[in-house]
Amino acid sequence: MNVLDFQGFKTRKEKIVMLTCYDYTSARIVQESDVDVILVGDSAAMVMHGHGTTIPADIEMMCRHIESVARGAKDKFIVGDMPFLSFRQSRTDNMHAVASVMKAGAHAVKLEGIEGNAETIAHIVKSGVPVMGHLGLTPQSINQLGGYRVQGRGQSAAETLLREALACEQAGCFSLVLECVPEKLAAEITETLNIPTIGIGAGVHTDGQVLVMQDMLGLSSDFKPRFVRQYLDGRAVLLNAFNTYASDVKSGNFPTADESYGQ
Ligand code: KIV
Repeated sequence: MNVLDFQGFKTRKEKIVMLTCYDYTSARIVQESDVDVILVGDSAAMVMHGHGTTIPADIEMMCRHIESVARGAKDKFIVGDMPFLSFRQSRTDNMHAVASVMKAGAHAVKLEGIEGNAETIAHIVKSGVPVMGHLGLTPQSINQLGGYRVQGRGQSAAETLLREALACEQAGCFSLVLECVPEKLAAEITETLNIPTIGIGAGVHTDGQVLVMQDMLGLSSDFKPRFVRQYLDGRAVLLNAFNTYASDVKSGNFPTADESYGQ
């Protein structure tokens, strides 16, 4: 998979499968899977570091995760998130941030919002770095949005989102994440744009889907929005393994002779 393949997926009406990943061990498993694209999202701040929002993510945090994932998933297309305000600095600082993410092993960067970012996106793209856009619920703007809620409801908000999506395409984005957008609006945007859309909480008509790994594995027990499908009750599976181990140790059932070294 490379950046040009995204367009082929849209043309063939083949869905793009994107999954977040943040560490080497998981990346090795994703590498063997049918997942097309890995997103090292700034959601790492929440699911890997326990923060309440993505705002504490910074370039250093993102680069450590991207490096680990790149070591584990050598053949996957990796998108690295540009963290909070890292692309709202001077052009020089923006480009240093982009360079760090790409040198860490990403093949493209993802950047939230278009308002005030169009020139930056165009400059990054013209510098040879593919940019994935991200509209709808943009978690880095949570303080502005006033909460995690569906975006683009009502005619005026829908028109704004469609206009912004076109602006992302015009600025040179090769694809666009639509997060928490009504299904009909996501379908309209997908139909209108030439570049593929990748949805999360945006219905079935987008050109691809993305989920946060911890959510789809059922590891985020306190977080279950309607758009997440759990493919594993990971929390129960892990808890059972931890408790069985604890019980085996306490009862003297672990280790056995086979699990110990002889003379
Ligand atoms: O950081 C992230 O995981 C994301 C996805 C939710 C699209 O941006």
